[in-house]
Amino acid sequence: MPDISSRDPDWWRQAVVYQVYPRSFADADGDGLGDLKGITQRLAHLATLGVDAVWLSPFYPSELADGGYDIADHRDVDPRLGTLDDFDEMTAEAHRLGLKVVVDIVPNHTSHRHDWFQEALRDGPGSAARDRYVFRAGGGTHGELPPTDWQSVFGGSAWTRVADGEWYLHLFATEQPDLNWDHDEVRADFRATLRFWADRGVDGFRVDVAHALAKDLSEPLRDVGDLEAVGELALHRVPPGSHPYYDRDEVHEIYRDWRRVFDTYSPPRTAVAEAWVPHSRRALYARLDELGQAFNFEYLQTAWDADALRQVITESLAAAQTAGASATWVLSNHDVVRHSSRLVLPPGTDENAWLLSDGRAPSIDRAAGLRRARAATLLMLALPGSSYVYQGEELGLPEVADLPTAVLQDPIWQQTGRVRKGRDGCRVPIPWTTTGPSYGFGAGGAWLPQPPEFASYAVAAQDGTEGSTLELYRAALRLRRKLLDGERLVWADESPEGVLQFARGDGWRCVTNLSGRSVPLPPGEVLLSSAPTEDGRLGPDTTAWLA
Ligand code: NOJ
Repeated sequence: MPDISSRDPDWWRQAVVYQVYPRSFADADGDGLGDLKGITQRLAHLATLGVDAVWLSPFYPSELADGGYDIADHRDVDPRLGTLDDFDEMTAEAHRLGLKVVVDIVPNHTSHRHDWFQEALRDGPGSAARDRYVFRAGGGTHGELPPTDWQSVFGGSAWTRVADGEWYLHLFATEQPDLNWDHDEVRADFRATLRFWADRGVDGFRVDVAHALAKDLSEPLRDVGDLEAVGELALHRVPPGSHPYYDRDEVHEIYRDWRRVFDTYSPPRTAVAEAWVPHSRRALYARLDELGQAFNFEYLQTAWDADALRQVITESLAAAQTAGASATWVLSNHDVVRHSSRLVLPPGTDENAWLLSDGRAPSIDRAAGLRRARAATLLMLALPGSSYVYQGEELGLPEVADLPTAVLQDPIWQQTGRVRKGRDGCRVPIPWTTTGPSYGFGAGGAWLPQPPEFASYAVAAQDGTEGSTLELYRAALRLRRKLLDGERLVWADESPEGVLQFARGDGWRCVTNLSGRSVPLPPGEVLLSSAPTEDGRLGPDTTAWLA
């Protein structure tokens, strides 16, 4: 059993977790696709940055129909990304550097190339193999219509018809058939997968689409009806727990079962739910006898506005507290527009339309975006709980909004009939050096083209450079480690309009100016600020930490 350097069972409660999107992080073999050896070689960057853990998006065998979230074997490594030995080596190196390792578990669906799905196709209607998935006869006179109105998150019907006339369910891409979680074999197989990785020394799991596993599959399947409520983000439109496939109460039984698996390890394995549900429902996934944490997407989606942020922070902390969990905060990940671009999109901008305009209309001010992103990051890192940081945000990378459509890989592009450009703009391989074929990503090219301005964001350009975003993250994480003391936040009694101000533990205070004009700094010593402070004043879009 690999050695886990820290055995503190509560390490996750206030951890800073760095998300690696393996295909875009570092490419050791020069084939243009990031790999596990590449990650191992670059782990020192994470240790120097000062994060506590690394979370890897899927690296399992996959035809990459959905960036690796279409998995053909949950207990192996994609040969293009390495081997299980490479994984063990990476984990050992991470632990040697004092970093925990979190992997993605994708239980809602498999790839259509998974042995189970191939068997289901071969064995035909009524077979036991079909029962591991959700196969149904179609509607209409000849079964030519999908069984229900359920829609894929990526666009179009969530049902695809196979040659023998039956339809199968896929809430995401056609290549991602949904599993039937009423099936004992499915449950047992995922318990085996959790053990497989936990036995290899993995410290925690990120649970993909955690709110969709339990479905109401009683006959006849019912329509959602209100088509606007079929989207993952529209759950507030239906009474809690009543949607046929999102956020159903039965899903929690699955996580209580998983917790029993996690608790057989020492320290217990941790987990975080990816669940696009409102606060009150999110806390249920984070209960201590379930996953412990759930991503806070309401925070991610909150506009750059003092009142809105104060409200979402207050509600998030209260919700986490009811569950005994710690709160989570996230500004960027592999599914959303990077926050240094997103935070300066004019209010009400449709992000899809903006991406389709190739970043030109409405134009955004990069420098203003970076300033705001730095302020948002220092605010996030001062909040009680755990922060999730996405690779490249420590460099201040902007969204690559003008990727030519010919290079797009996200299934969203094709599945929406080329109406939504998708998420490739935040998945462009990150720059390590200011020159070289792919700015140090690898010896060859990069699977998505990097814009020339990536050179100026490279790690090498920022390392040791005073005032760089990389040095800001490093300083913040160093300081945070020293200052952390409990999970309490106390809002200041009075703050100027548009200014957020709160205290943490022993004298650590955070103040963020969202007012659009410079304001006086509260008394105290400035420990760190996202932009220089002058003459006792805090400029617009700036956060300062004070003692
Ligand atoms: C959520 C993941 O973050 C996303 O990238 C993926 O496309 C879907 N789940 C489907 O697995």
